[in-house]
Amino acid sequence: MKFFIDTANLSEIEEAYDMGVLDGVTTNPSLMAKEGITGEENVRNHYKAICDLVDDKVSAEVIATDYDAIIREGKELAKIDDKIVVKIPMIRDGIKAIKYFHSEGIRTNCTLVFSAGQAILAAKAGASYLSPFIGRLDDISYDGLELIQQIVHIYGNFGFETEVLAASVRHSMHLVKCAEIGADVVTCPLKVITGLLKHPLTDSGLAQFLSDHNKAAGKLT
Ligand code: E4P
Repeated sequence: MKFFIDTANLSEIEEAYDMGVLDGVTTNPSLMAKEGITGEENVRNHYKAICDLVDDKVSAEVIATDYDAIIREGKELAKIDDKIVVKIPMIRDGIKAIKYFHSEGIRTNCTLVFSAGQAILAAKAGASYLSPFIGRLDDISYDGLELIQQIVHIYGNFGFETEVLAASVRHSMHLVKCAEIGADVVTCPLKVITGLLKHPLTDSGLAQFLSDHNKAAGKLT
């Protein structure tokens, strides 16, 4: 299972990479805006800075929504670095663009996916990654994890090569459940990754070990 971090914040990316468990990065226009990154040149430079921090797979989302403009923008994004994966929304022109990029050997991430039907279309078009949004479904009382399970099952039936990239992950249990279900990738905020570290018995056990060690060492001196 791969871990991607879902942020455009350089220090969070560095921190996750430093833990040694990071396989990639996903961004979206809202995450870029949160970092105050606007304007074509700043956006390019920021993506380049992200690519310089990680080994591979940096999803950069197009803003365009019509076919020709998606192709133009996607090609520009792909030129920034070999690590770029062009992120394209699940719309008719997006599907066409995914098919085109697939034929050109440019990796894509199909985003804003909320149904199994959409997942089938993206796989048929040759998307490298598919991003179903768990948290946003949960927010409106649909079961986000059930959708991941359904897509993993369907892709397994046909041997589709598209990787299921669980997105809109809100907490560490989302990640653990995705691992159980067999999602290929989870993208999440840093706190979801560091949340995996935590267990009260680890903390109390370590405190006990250190205290016993110090007591024994004290007796020797
Ligand atoms: C990542 O690819 C998605 O854009 C992101 O996970 C969406 O997350 P949100 O629903 O928390 O905004």
